[in-house]
Amino acid sequence: MAQRKRGENMEPMNSTIDPAAKVFKDTYIRDSIVGKAVISDRAVLINSVIGDKVEIGRDCNVVYASFGFGSYIGNGSVIKFTRVGKYSNMSWHLSIGGSNHNYHAACMYTESWWKRTFGVGDGLIPVREDAYTVIGNDTWIGAQANILRGVSIGDGAVIGANALVLHDVPPYAIAVGSPAKVIKYRFDEKTIERLQGVRWWDWPIETIRAASEYLHGDLNEEKLRRLEAIAGQVSSDERT
Ligand SMILES: CC(C)(COP(=O)(O)OP(=O)(O)OC[C@H]1O[C@@H](n2cnc3c(N)ncnc32)[C@H](O)[C@@H]1OP(=O)(O)O)[C@@H](O)C(=O)NCCC(=O)NCCS
Repeated sequence: MAQRKRGENMEPMNSTIDPAAKVFKDTYIRDSIVGKAVISDRAVLINSVIGDKVEIGRDCNVVYASFGFGSYIGNGSVIKFTRVGKYSNMSWHLSIGGSNHNYHAACMYTESWWKRTFGVGDGLIPVREDAYTVIGNDTWIGAQANILRGVSIGDGAVIGANALVLHDVPPYAIAVGSPAKVIKYRFDEKTIERLQGVRWWDWPIETIRAASEYLHGDLNEEKLRRLEAIAGQVSSDERT
């Protein structure tokens, strides 16, 4: 990163920034697309796509990541090679999408570090083609969780604070611990099935706003029926 004075933004490089985005001080943005989002102080975005109403916390490092509408990630988080859905609640100090170095080699440097330090190394170390990490819609990731590269967190799932997530977590599951294990589900099986039909996060914003009384507060049969009725009225063309 080039030298610059404190409080002075680098011009975003090779990036498209929506004029309505709020980009705070000392950020570094390269090869990215930023919608009507908030990019907080000292955040770094590289090769990433940040949707509308997204908030990236202070000191975040976002590399090859995409964030769907209305998701946010707290201060001091690192997120790489990850696709985040819509309305994901991501706490602070997260580590998401970190990959493995080859510990079978005599030197565990990756290709990019080999190049940086020794100035050579193109093709020397095969680039790992790991799958992206996926964070579903309406998820809640507790503080200081670590979710490894290639893991999928299902829609509606909860990851406990400090969890180390090595394996996929099913939709609406609650997983905690190191290594993380599913301890329970947010709702019973039938309710989860019905909510997966509702997929409220795909509705137009005005529809979600109008349904807020059914989306908040503990879910009950009456609310679920209302949500199902609304879902039935939202055509597939209107779904986002
Ligand atoms: C995962 C979480 C939502 C579960 O909450 P809960 O439903 O009230 O869970 P309970 O307190 O009933 O705990 C159930 C069991 O899981 C354990 N547990 C809960 N959270 C845990 C965690 N983060 N790590 C390890 N174990 C955990 C409990 O000790 C308990 O075990 P036990 O039955 O052997 O006593 C909550 O504990 C959590 O981690 N929240 C994240 C908070 C956070 O990071 N907030 C940041 C702001 S967004």
